[in-house]
Amino acid sequence: MIKQPRRARRCQLSVPGSSEKMLTKAAGLTLDHVFLDLEDAVAPSAKPSARGMIVDALNDLEWKPKTLCVRINDVDTEWCHDDIIEVVTGAGARLDTIMLTKAKSAADVQFVHLLLDQLEKKLNLPNRIGIECLIEEVEGMMNVDAIAACSDRLECLIFGMGDYSASQQMQLGHVGETGGYPPDVWHYPRYKMTIACRANGIDPVDGPYANFRNPEGYTKEAERSYVLGMVGKWAIHPSQVEIAQRVFSPDPEAIASARKQKAAYTQALEEGLGAINVDGVMVDAASIRIVQNLLDRADLYGM
Ligand code: COA
Ligand code: MG
Repeated sequence: MIKQPRRARRCQLSVPGSSEKMLTKAAGLTLDHVFLDLEDAVAPSAKPSARGMIVDALNDLEWKPKTLCVRINDVDTEWCHDDIIEVVTGAGARLDTIMLTKAKSAADVQFVHLLLDQLEKKLNLPNRIGIECLIEEVEGMMNVDAIAACSDRLECLIFGMGDYSASQQMQLGHVGETGGYPPDVWHYPRYKMTIACRANGIDPVDGPYANFRNPEGYTKEAERSYVLGMVGKWAIHPSQVEIAQRVFSPDPEAIASARKQKAAYTQALEEGLGAINVDGVMVDAASIRIVQNLLDRADLYGM
């Protein structure tokens, strides 16, 4: 079972770790989660220095986002172990999670888990660092059930459609676009990953949409993943943040109605009734599970 705290991740903003300007900008934004990137947003030549910039940014800036994460290079690269060691040694106490890229199997995640075990002991860290993991390789998608179950540090899986489309050799437009495939080219991988997450008590998160000048396209993709049960979506630009924070927040009217249904159902149970009519809708034990999911999310977001 997962041992990590439950965190809001309606929006996860990607911030290139080699850009002091963007690190500073991200610290002042109001959103649930940011990840400071050492992977694809950082050129190979800039990766070693970006680690130090991320450590300084974590330690020195005042961060408004609640959850602070660092995205590391995958276990097949020469950078992965140094990414973890340098960032955790330099700023482990400021770090909530590490995000692993391009995981192909449970063993990849367990490598990160064991290295964190060792570093937390060595550094005597007060906090337990969680793991977030991208499913963006066809092997990772094939092994998603085992990956989702492999570590009690794992807090979420993210469907990374950019690398995933390359891994499957899909023929699409920009990252996150659906290529006009009827009815929805992301239906199967999103659905599959979301089920694996839910079966293991972790959060499913939707990946990036590269065309940040197309808020309608971004909103449509966010709404689709919300309906499927995902809890949030990446932003690659500040203009996408507010959209994701809004789309993944339960509607206030739905929250009010959920509270009303729950109260009516509690009352009905006391009267020995299992199914009741609330404003023309049948409410029973199954509907109360659905309602409770919504209320749990509302609680998490302080709504
Ligand atoms: N995080 C923090 N700040 C960001 C940002 C991000 N991801 N993207 C843009 N900004 C800042 C810019 O620095 C600029 O700041 P300013 O107002 O102080 O000048 C402001 O937001 C507006 O940016 P804009 O000029 O519209 O975009 P840009 O041309 O500077 O940057 C990208 C466009 C795509 C290069 C940039 O958004 C980016 O690098 N995104 C992240 C890429 C990434 O992480 N990829 C890997 C994961 S998929
Ligand atoms: Mg990727």
